[in-house]
Amino acid sequence: MKTNKQHIEKALELPAFAYIQKAADALGVEAYVIGGFVRDTLLERETGTDIDIVAVGSGIALAKKVAELLPGKNQIQVFKTYGTAMIKFEDIQLEFVGARKESYSADSRNPVVENGTLEDDQNRRDFTINALALCLNADNFGALLDPFNGIQDLKDGIIRTPLDPDVTYSDDPLRMLRAIRFSNQLGFTIAQKSFDSIANNSKRIDILSKERIVEELNKILACPKPSKGFLLLDQTKLLKRILPELIALKGIDEVEGQRHKDNFYHTLEVVDNISENSENVWLRWAALLHDIGKAPTKKFDKKVGWTFHAHEFVGAKMVFKLFKRLRMPLNEKMKYVQKLVYMSSRPIVIAQEEVTDSAVRRLIFDAGDLLDDLLLLCKADITTKNPKRFARYHKNFEVVKEKVIEVEARDHIRNFQPPVSGEEIMRIFALKPCRQVGEIKDAIKEAILEGDIPNEYDAAHAFMLTKAKSMGLFPA
Ligand code: CTP
Repeated sequence: MKTNKQHIEKALELPAFAYIQKAADALGVEAYVIGGFVRDTLLERETGTDIDIVAVGSGIALAKKVAELLPGKNQIQVFKTYGTAMIKFEDIQLEFVGARKESYSADSRNPVVENGTLEDDQNRRDFTINALALCLNADNFGALLDPFNGIQDLKDGIIRTPLDPDVTYSDDPLRMLRAIRFSNQLGFTIAQKSFDSIANNSKRIDILSKERIVEELNKILACPKPSKGFLLLDQTKLLKRILPELIALKGIDEVEGQRHKDNFYHTLEVVDNISENSENVWLRWAALLHDIGKAPTKKFDKKVGWTFHAHEFVGAKMVFKLFKRLRMPLNEKMKYVQKLVYMSSRPIVIAQEEVTDSAVRRLIFDAGDLLDDLLLLCKADITTKNPKRFARYHKNFEVVKEKVIEVEARDHIRNFQPPVSGEEIMRIFALKPCRQVGEIKDAIKEAILEGDIPNEYDAAHAFMLTKAKSMGLFPA
């Protein structure tokens, strides 16, 4: 971490800061850049596109002045109720706010706001590492204001609140999730007092909007090792309030000397494994939820031991409910997660039996566009600690993968459209849309998937004539 002046000056070379300086000096107000931009600059991380500016005075007045000075037409949006304004300039969003003192009522996130000094404003922020401010006025340009030893916490890798954590978290419970998210993103440790306070205040997250919770969950899932965040969520008792389905996977039962694995820790391992191979956050969701159907379907059978019969089907249904409860969009992303959960055991089941062409063809057909992601998920699902089994499962999996490549190259089966369409069947047999058309189409599909005929027009056409004949239908 560089805290030297040149480094800060370099970050402040961004053209927007020169305009803010001019505007602030013209109005005679102090202006500071604060929050994530300062934190990430000092950590030498890529700074995001949102930059937070605090004015000791009116944030809106400063924003208006900046907008006047900026070249070209720049959109300024004013949010009077919040006393904030936003300007888009080049690729960045500048968020302006007046320095304030805030306190929150017990049952809502809506603060009671009063104007304050810079220090008041720093006080009310979430973490010491997010309360660092750099002055933008000409006479003090680049000066770092760090009343809570945020620099030391950045060096030591500590997430700490400026005030008593009970006050900071109670003011805005989202910060409990933010603490965990930052800890996961930055590899920082949450200060013990803060950690205890999160556990004590965990109930307070119930007042948050689901959208904001999900935003943080997505950021945790986007980390290189999401398990670290989920373990913290669990230890602080937040997870059971957000995703009780995962908590239900915890524990190992034993009956007659037979044990099953702890599906909670297994799930977290799967999420980490998938995160090594894909940035796709929805695939990471699928990994997180792939076994949720195991809790409600768990049974002990004297003959076969522990079973989770139809857990993929039950799990897929639970995905819908979970997305709905968390107000996540019930769109194609949800369907994607649902389908992956539903199909999550298929490649492994194939691997355990003889890997026939028709089983592979069906897998390719059923998975369609999701095939590559499904295969990644299945590979990530191998978490056994037994080295022999680990090697065997991987070998089986590779056999399935090779077979998929071979069958695909030969049969062109992905995104399969039967070579004879429903329209053609209706035309040839002079039929209106009816059950028989569907029956003939399905029979062609089945014949191709079973490998009875190749995936080609002539063969499908001939098969169609034979099938129709057996149903008493003849070409018109
Ligand atoms: N902040 C806060 N409490 C919150 C959210 C934000 O005190 N619940 C303050 C912090 O000082 C934070 C700043 O507002 O640094 C900007 O918030 P935001 O843009 O959400 O986060 P960043 O810190 O910029 O980080 P990131 O973009 O990674 O979320």
